[in-house]
Amino acid sequence: MELLGIDIGGSGIKGAIVNTETGEFITERHRIPTPDPSTPYAVAEVIAEMTHYFNYSGMIGCTFPAIVKNGITLSAANVDKGWIGIDAKALLEDVTGCQICLLNDADAAGIAEFRFGAGKSVPHGVVIVLTFGTGIGSAIFVNGTLVPNTEFGHMELKGVDAELYAADSARKAEALSWKKWAKRVTRYLERLEALFSPDLFIIGGGVSKKHDKFIPFIEVKTPTVPTTLLNDSGIIGATLAAEQELLLDEQRRLIQFRETNASTPSTHQ
Ligand code: BGC
Repeated sequence: MELLGIDIGGSGIKGAIVNTETGEFITERHRIPTPDPSTPYAVAEVIAEMTHYFNYSGMIGCTFPAIVKNGITLSAANVDKGWIGIDAKALLEDVTGCQICLLNDADAAGIAEFRFGAGKSVPHGVVIVLTFGTGIGSAIFVNGTLVPNTEFGHMELKGVDAELYAADSARKAEALSWKKWAKRVTRYLERLEALFSPDLFIIGGGVSKKHDKFIPFIEVKTPTVPTTLLNDSGIIGATLAAEQELLLDEQRRLIQFRETNASTPSTHQ
């Protein structure tokens, strides 16, 4: 399938049309800065603009940097608080006229890594995908199955929300060297190790392009690798989730069709 994927981030909203069989972009990536303030309506207008830019009318896979359950956004750590508790899926469907599959950004990144990236060779065990950017996103997979909305970025670490201490934004704000920042990331990963005994950490997010600058300084027992899809994993994973939803819709329709036909008495003798 060829589906539009959109990744809503704290600083930019990025989109591309993706071939879901290969995970490749079939258009250039288009980026629009995230409006400030990032209120629901301002962001929704950018999503409509993005859809228009690609002249697109099918289902859209869309990520959001917060907890997302059944289309409702339930938190807003790095976006406008107006998102908390609203039916974001309905809002985005209204402005675009397209069906929207909405999910957490790190969950989307993890789904893509599992299908096409660093996770594809690890179908068993516990794998934790982390994205380091404005915040810290997390996705945990148990034998390849995602447990959504884990929000490990908000664990307490050094007396604060972990992402205030170890996100890439903390490195930038405090002008930390890569080595110093990697020490903080190590502390954070050690905490996750103690809680989950994972088999693999996959590190992605905005910082993933620079992985050679900090991954060598990370000292944990668990193998730790960079994402192979870099910062495109959110867009790709969003389209994979959308494809899954379309397939499920089709299955439901088929079951309904069979049930209706089975219960309709035949007019022929
Ligand atoms: C949010 C998560 C999100 C992460 C990365 C955190 O602040 O709570 O939902 O996945 O940032 O964007």
